[in-house]
Amino acid sequence: MVLSHAMWVSSLLPKKVEHYEIASYGTLVQLAMTIGHADVAEILQQTLEEEKETDAILTELAENNINQQAEGERRRRKMRNNFQRV
Ligand SMILES: [Fe+2]
Repeated sequence: MVLSHAMWVSSLLPKKVEHYEIASYGTLVQLAMTIGHADVAEILQQTLEEEKETDAILTELAENNINQQAEGERRRRKMRNNFQRV
């Protein structure tokens, strides 16, 4: 499987952003609880869950995209090999 470096990076950057957000909201939830603002913590927790859902969607999209790219590369290589035999 041959995948370009740019393709890998472009599929990983959005996930990296989500992971920063997950870490940030997780920290803020704990901070809100520590200083006694359970109501704020609950709202932040909801946002944290949304960030986790987005991360899961991005993972699925990246995996599908990479698999499709790999399949396309495999087909192109097979066609090239078949053409060279003729
Ligand atoms: Fe996000």
